[in-house]
Order: sequence, then structure tokens, then C-alpha cells
Amino acid sequence: MKKIMVVGGGGREHAITWKLSKSNNISDLWVAPGNGGSQQLAESININLTDIESIVAAAKFRDIDLAVIGPEEPLALGLVDALEQRGIPSIGPNKKGAQIEASKIFAKKLMDSESIPTAEWRSFDDPTTAIEHIKTCQMPIVIKADGLAAGKGVAVCNDIAEAKQFINQLMVLKAFSQAGDRILIEECLEGKEASIFVICDGENSIMTVPACDYKRIGDDDIGPNTGGMGSYSPPEFLSDIELSEIEKTIVRPTLKQLNQLGIPYKGTLYIGLMMTEAGPRVLEFNCRMGDPETQVVLPRLDHDLLEIYESITTASLSNLDIQWSSNSTIGVVLASPGYPEKPKTGIPITGLDKLDKDILVFHSGTRLDGETLLTNGGRVLTIVSQASNMLDARNKLYKNVDRIYFDGMQYRKDIGLRAINNM
Ligand code: AMP
Ligand code: GLY
Repeated sequence: MKKIMVVGGGGREHAITWKLSKSNNISDLWVAPGNGGSQQLAESININLTDIESIVAAAKFRDIDLAVIGPEEPLALGLVDALEQRGIPSIGPNKKGAQIEASKIFAKKLMDSESIPTAEWRSFDDPTTAIEHIKTCQMPIVIKADGLAAGKGVAVCNDIAEAKQFINQLMVLKAFSQAGDRILIEECLEGKEASIFVICDGENSIMTVPACDYKRIGDDDIGPNTGGMGSYSPPEFLSDIELSEIEKTIVRPTLKQLNQLGIPYKGTLYIGLMMTEAGPRVLEFNCRMGDPETQVVLPRLDHDLLEIYESITTASLSNLDIQWSSNSTIGVVLASPGYPEKPKTGIPITGLDKLDKDILVFHSGTRLDGETLLTNGGRVLTIVSQASNMLDARNKLYKNVDRIYFDGMQYRKDIGLRAINNM
């Protein structure tokens, strides 16, 4: 029987904790710090996600057998390196591996070295040269902070004025501090987006079922980018043949190049793809599962998640035959008023007791105040429904969402709509 600690406090980590809680081989499950939902499944360790030393000390004190790291920030700060130095096996890449997300320029160089298809790009470390460059570009263009910015350091700019303003925000006003010291300016791609997750043990890799994420705050993809407002799986536009092609032309060369750089990648590699008319193009890599994609991918997993994690730590993924349910899953994020700019928190949430039994509720920004559940962040809940087809799953989802209430609750009404329109 194993003692497991899940690091993180979002919906993704709640979904991971939920799936682990179904394993028969876990004696103790902790969440660090967790949230109002995951704390109902596991004991909480109150910890700051950037305080690497305290996380390691907490894991050591509890004598845990395995740490699962959900978010990118502690991975980029070297949490896995620190845990493994103390003999604690961990799920997630080390600091070097996490660069694939923590530096978009590192990721682009890696792609170029293996001719992995991605948008044309250039990098800049001073705003004047960047602004000179945009005057020569065809609009729209995409501007990205090199470093971590919680999904908010990217803007698709439609004209020079917008582009100048975003460069100013990143490089002069330092909206994301050092993350914007260097920026990328890249070609704007058109197509449908998909999120691909690859479970890696340093030698072998297995792709999970793919998913789609909705990045913008508003229906019809209007408004600013967020961490993600909804998701569904499977994407209706990705065939098995296309997935094998993606594995051959993107997944394998990426892992091969990481290996050549002395980075045997362990954990989950997230590949954000744009399916363009000319084929798949990589938009980004992340060093972790996606949120809210994890909330629709894990309910389709017909396998013990602990066994998968243990196979990662022993580099024996190739021995597993992982099965996935043929169900369709769909999730919608309920967000706080003011999200993504200035979320208002501390608002009571009602109606969760009125949901159908088979609806899954994954918490992100929530906390328990005695018996009352309060909002406690930008994204508050992901509500997930599953059925044998997307139409039924979607109808059931929105019928249940109507029963949940908090003051100023915002959510997208169009999640999964395009999938059923194409059925
Ligand atoms: P990233 O963090 O790099 O994935 O960017 C966040 C979001 O911005 C993506 O999910 C896309 O919706 C959009 N995006 C990023 N790069 C491009 C691009 N080259 N062309 C069009 N849209 C993009
Ligand atoms: N949903 C996008 C992400 O997790 O980065």
C-alpha cells in the first residue's frame, strides 16, 4: 500500500486525486494544498507551491512513496530534482525538462532542430527592435512572453497599435515580470486546436486520448485568453490516422531531441496543436497535463492511475496496455465575476447537492468555510458529464449547470457545440 502526495490546488489536481482515490493500492493520500473539493478526498497539507524546500520537507516527514506534481511553476523551479535528491520518486519532468514550457524560445529552438512543424517565429530582447519588426509583418501576428504567465502571456494582435501595446505591457511595464524580458513574435495560424498528452517514462511514451480546450473567456472565442474555460474529449476532427502521424512527426522527434540534450523526459508532455490545412502545427509545449483538459481525459481512463505512475518511475510504461472508455466527456468551467483580469472571491456557491449522480464536480478556486463552500479564485469549478455520445453528454452537462449558482458566475454556453454540429 502506497502513500501518495498530489501537489497543486486546481481542477486538474482534483481530477488526479479523484482518479487516484479509486486505486486499491493507496493507504494514504495527501493534497498540497488542494482545494475545497480535493480536501474531501485527501488530507490537505497547507503549502505554498513555490516553496520547494517546504514541499520536500512535508513529503519527507510523511514518508511518502510518490509525489505527483500538477502545475508548471514548481516543476520549473526544480521540485522534481529536489524530491528525487531526497529519494522521493516523482511524476513530472525535472527543471531541465520543464524548460519546454518555461521558455518558449527553448521550445522553438528544439522544434527547429528536428524540423517539427510550428509557426514561423523570431525572438526579441528589446522593445524597440521588436516594434521595428512588427512594422514589416503581415497582420494578424501572435506575440508571446518567453516565460511562464499562467496562460495569459500570449496575444493575437490584429494591427500594429495592438501589437505595440502588448509589447509595451510585456517588455516595458513588465506585466509578467521577467517572463516578458524576451518575447516571441510569430506567424498567426488558422485551424482547430487540440491538446495532446504524452505520458513519458524517460524511454517509452504513450499518448492519452486527446481533448479540446476553449482558451477565450467568451462564447464564439471572444475576449481575452484564460487558463481554459471548457473542454471535451474526443475532438471530433482528429482521426486515428492523424494521431499516428502526430506521434511520428511531432511526439517522437520531440522526445528524441530532449534525450539528445540529456533530458530523458518523465511525466506528461502536453502538446498544444493547431490543425491547419497544411497539417498539424505545434502552438506550445507544456510540461504537465492541461487544465481543464485533465478533467475530461481522466474520466475516460479505464486503468489504475497509480499503476501508470509507478510504471513511469520504473521506466516500464511499455509493459502496460492502457484502455480508454469510448464515452464522450465534456466539461465547463464556472468562473468568478471579474475573471480573468480581477476575479472577485469569497462568494457562497449553491446547488451542487442538486446535481445528477453521474455528474462530476472538480473544484479549482474553492474553499470550505465551516459547512459553506466559497469561491476562492478565478476559475472555480469544472462540471463534467459523460455519455455514449457528445450530444447527450452536452445536454446533460448544461441541464446540471443550470442548477448551480454563485453571484456573478460566468461560463461559456458554447462548449462542445461545434462537435455536435458536426455529428
Ligand atoms: P500558447 O500559450 O502558446 O499555447 O498560446 C495560447 C493560445 O494562443 C493558443 O492556445 C492559441 O489559441 C493562441 N495561439 C498561440 N500561438 C498561436 C499562433 N501561432 N497562431 C494562432 N493562435 C495562436
Ligand atoms: N488548458 C490549457 C493549459 O492547461 O495550459
